[in-house]
Amino acid sequence: MKNRSIPFALYHLGLDTVKIEGARYAFLPGDPGRVPEIAKAFDPNAKEIGYKREYRTWLGKINAKSVLVTSTGIGGPSTSIVVDELAQLGVKTFLRVGTTGAIQPAILAGDVIITTGAVRIDGASTHYAPIEYPAVADYEIVKVLVEAAQAQAISYHVGISASCDTFYPGQERVESFFQYIPRRFKGQTEELRRLHVLNYEMEAATVLTLCSAFGLRGGCIAGVVTNRMKENGVAPEDLVLGERNAIKTAVEAMRILVQV
Ligand code: URA
Repeated sequence: MKNRSIPFALYHLGLDTVKIEGARYAFLPGDPGRVPEIAKAFDPNAKEIGYKREYRTWLGKINAKSVLVTSTGIGGPSTSIVVDELAQLGVKTFLRVGTTGAIQPAILAGDVIITTGAVRIDGASTHYAPIEYPAVADYEIVKVLVEAAQAQAISYHVGISASCDTFYPGQERVESFFQYIPRRFKGQTEELRRLHVLNYEMEAATVLTLCSAFGLRGGCIAGVVTNRMKENGVAPEDLVLGERNAIKTAVEAMRILVQV
């Protein structure tokens, strides 16, 4: 399935090789509402080319090269569909830009986390590669994300993330309807903290496992919207700050990546 022309719209994204105008780069936010903001941040003339279910895609240009912004929805299964279908259409570089909850004490809301690898507490990635296979980020993308954060004086942390399929029990949150953490997850946050894992999020393991398995480039940056050492909820002002810094860093990084 390498670089073949796909003239019909793929089932979930509703995109084909003509619509994406040869794009080889994609930003992957989770939220469809964030797609226009990211696209307009690098190209004021960016346009919407698809919107089905949670999958919204805008297309813009950086240095005359086509760049996509496609929302993944939340979690591994919907994210795997985006990475798989965009890869079928010829995309080679995937940059997830999302939000996250920090689990180390020194990380503040508004900081960004640049993931080098992800603990695979998801399910979707296991459908593509065995659990022993590492979910690692592309070295070049990590390097460029660091450069981009430094260039904009955004406080950043580089390291391992944990990707879970659930926001509540899988991230050990008791403030749920169930108010019960199954045995499998009890004590998980403390263990991850001691293993120097930086944060919880829900998509990195899927993006990084699939990209590595496909021989493509994958990277993840997430804006911190809460620190689980202090709170379990997300304050609206922290959400804005985390999102804004992650998007600024990701857009700057993509400007560099399209030239590499
Ligand atoms: N996203 C997550 O998955 N967890 C958080 O705590 C915040 C954002």
